Amino acid sequence: MKDLENNKALTITLKTIFGLEEVLGEELAELGYTKYKVLNRAVQLEGTWKDVYYLNLHLRCAISVLVQIASFRIRSEDDLYNKAMKIDWTGYFDLDKTFAVKGAVFSDLFSHTQYPFLVVKDAIADTFRDRYDERPDVNIKSPQVLFDVYINKNDVTVSMNTSGAPLFQRGYRDEIGEAPLNEVVAAGLIRMSGWDRKSPLTDVFCGSGTILIEAALLASGIPSVIERQHFAFKNFKNYDAELWEGILAKATKYVKELPCEISGSDMSAEMVTKARRNLGRLSVGRFVKTSVASFDEIKQPAESGVMISNPPYGERMGEEIDALYEQLGDWMKTEMKGFNCWVLSSNMEAYKNLGLRPDRKIKLFNGDLECSFRKYSIYAGSKRAKFQNNEA
Ligand SMILES: C[S@@+](CC[C@H](N)C(=O)[O-])C[C@H]1O[C@@H](n2cnc3c(N)ncnc32)[C@H](O)[C@@H]1O
Repeated sequence: MKDLENNKALTITLKTIFGLEEVLGEELAELGYTKYKVLNRAVQLEGTWKDVYYLNLHLRCAISVLVQIASFRIRSEDDLYNKAMKIDWTGYFDLDKTFAVKGAVFSDLFSHTQYPFLVVKDAIADTFRDRYDERPDVNIKSPQVLFDVYINKNDVTVSMNTSGAPLFQRGYRDEIGEAPLNEVVAAGLIRMSGWDRKSPLTDVFCGSGTILIEAALLASGIPSVIERQHFAFKNFKNYDAELWEGILAKATKYVKELPCEISGSDMSAEMVTKARRNLGRLSVGRFVKTSVASFDEIKQPAESGVMISNPPYGERMGEEIDALYEQLGDWMKTEMKGFNCWVLSSNMEAYKNLGLRPDRKIKLFNGDLECSFRKYSIYAGSKRAKFQNNEA
């Protein structure tokens, strides 16, 4: 079977979050993959199974790594079943593995967007039954083997989801706050900020520490999923354990020091304890300084550097949140001179209270929440014209 041979060119689709496509491309280029296509919420390239394993381990801005196994056109629901029956599913996984079919549908052929997944699930079960008189079990929540079905009008693409559970499940975080930041989004924010991985980086609303952890892992070159054990590719029939172990063995796991200062604080002692526990799970955690403090108690941390924070969005908190953003703007002007301060929020009104004009605004999503990621360059002294009462 073509796509199960390790050296054949595969179509690899890297799924990501809206707004992170460009940084995912940058990440690929940094890993040496210069030929790729940027799509909507995805980046596509060609590669081998070695690349599939490598990308699962090293990418920080991807949600999953898909390997295409079939593509065809359909004119009806029945057509989907008939064409899915032509795929030899028994060549991809064994009866004793649980499976699921998920994906995305943009087509008028189906009135329910979940229905095509049921159709393909039936085709898989029927293929096994025809051959073995038995069928593998479905497990929607945590399947061992996952297939992705993407339907755009009449075009269907079927892929193996070689990651399985989304790659933002890094394996380092048990402790989460009330409004945790998606780890892939955090990695994306750090890249978007253009941080050089040498200058001081701080997060004064660190919560459970996602930005601090992703920054420390990036600066040290340790894969973000180094603690993760589960990858669906291990459950497919063609799993090459030796190839994977070889790739894993070459990855950086420990460093003696960090090339930069990374620090974080939060006014909630409970959150800082969670951040410390999460940091404690990683070898680089000990290099990150954390403290319990309200942002306005923090004094200029360094002459220059980068701040990346997501303050409370608190759309329901009204005046309180307005005051917090106003104080934050004042504090940035006095204590963050020489810093590029990046703020992520879904509260567009609250931004106005910062009293600063952003140099950049980037739209992206944290979960279902539409957010804006804004850059405020705080100049030391001369360019006070940047500060104004209302942002442009
Ligand atoms: C949206 S959450 C940040 C989530 C964080 N990025 C994470 O990954 O868990 C906002 C955080 O701001 C903290 N916070 C609220 N007011 C604060 C203040 N005045 N100073 C510092 N932290 C504050 C909250 O305790 C909360 O942890």
